[in-house]
Amino acid sequence: MESTTHLTNSEEETIQLGRQLAPTLSGAVLLIGNLGAGKTTLTKGIVEGRGVARMEEVSSPTFTLVHQYGNADNPVFHIDLYRLDEVREVETLGLDDLFGSGALVLLEWAERFPSLMPRERTEIRLRALDDDSREIIITRVGSA
Ligand SMILES: Nc1ncnc2c1ncn2[C@@H]1O[C@H](COP(=O)(O)OP(=O)(O)OP(=O)(O)O)[C@@H](O)[C@H]1O
Ligand SMILES: [Mg+2]
Repeated sequence: MESTTHLTNSEEETIQLGRQLAPTLSGAVLLIGNLGAGKTTLTKGIVEGRGVARMEEVSSPTFTLVHQYGNADNPVFHIDLYRLDEVREVETLGLDDLFGSGALVLLEWAERFPSLMPRERTEIRLRALDDDSREIIITRVGSA
């Protein structure tokens, strides 16, 4: 599987990487990494790069599990499944409709529910190398 690896040395560099990646992404994008790895930080840059919101508007979805940025023509969804434990809870969110819509859907902690993820997706793995450095590996999965 072909992967691209990036290294960032600050929060701002990760946001900048998100801005750069924004036009290249589509469909389901799983953001995979530990607490504090930078999943929401990268999301800020992606949302801003898409031109659908300013990064200050992007927060960790806590009570709202599904955030929508942008209008119906060009939406970006940001979903955090950290607080959900059961497949049947996740099923109530209607993720299949979002995946079927062709919208960009950014998901945190979705690798915990592999049976609910589409076969074709992008996986972005983030790993802390030290306090300020992150390794970010992007892999397209399931496309021919
Ligand atoms: N190179 C870097 N890239 C991203 N974040 C960094 C970097 N260096 C330090 N940080 C810090 O790491 C933290 C990343 O937090 P963020 O909310 O993005 O993580 P997360 O992966 O979404 O965690 P959670 O699983 O809790 O949602 C921030 O406090 C940020 O300032
Ligand atoms: Mg987060």
